[in-house]
Amino acid sequence: MRFHDYSATFSRSRRLLFRAGVAGAPVIIALALAACSDTPAPGDDPRADPRNADVVRRGAEVYAQNCAACHGAKLEGQPNWRTRLANGRLPAPPHDDTGHTWHHPDHVLFGIIKNGLVPPYAPKNYESDMPAFSGKLSDDEIWAVLAYIKSRWSREVLPVRAEMLRNTASR
Ligand code: HEC
Repeated sequence: MRFHDYSATFSRSRRLLFRAGVAGAPVIIALALAACSDTPAPGDDPRADPRNADVVRRGAEVYAQNCAACHGAKLEGQPNWRTRLANGRLPAPPHDDTGHTWHHPDHVLFGIIKNGLVPPYAPKNYESDMPAFSGKLSDDEIWAVLAYIKSRWSREVLPVRAEMLRNTASR
């Protein structure tokens, strides 16, 4: 994966959302109706299934204990999360629709949570406050927390995510 250019991806997703909202509204509505509550994206992993209530419940507990302190109890992220801190690091972004977590395929998110922001997810020696959870959480717990995060994405975001990941299949 190329290192995430936050500002570029952000404006790109804004454009996509705009296009989805204006030009693609009928398509989005049709997709949403056809797929009911979900639109699978390329690379969706069955281990992070947002429709599996047991896994989502477990993930919510993992999230509350390990992630909420930084990413917010409601997945809202830290204030001014796009602005670097005095030490040059970035604050924790939201995991809800307003962030960019949904821009990434499941295996990338799994890797970031397990290993932290190290290559190939970030440049070598990249400094970040995002911890690596490999020693703390089992793989099952990481998939569960991902299922929980995905369960919070709205119907508006899911088709946009699917389109985005089709266009950037290698990320
Ligand atoms: C100590 C604070 C802290 C904790 C605890 C924490 N994070 Fe993070 N997380 C961050 C920061 C800060 C970033 C952004 C780092 C950067 O971009 O340099 C981040 C980034 C991420 C990203 C990348 C998002 C993207 O779109 O690029 C994911 C995914 C993530 N965190 C998931 C989690 C999960 C899941 C947990 C709990 C298991 C967790 N984090 C716990 C601080 C934290």
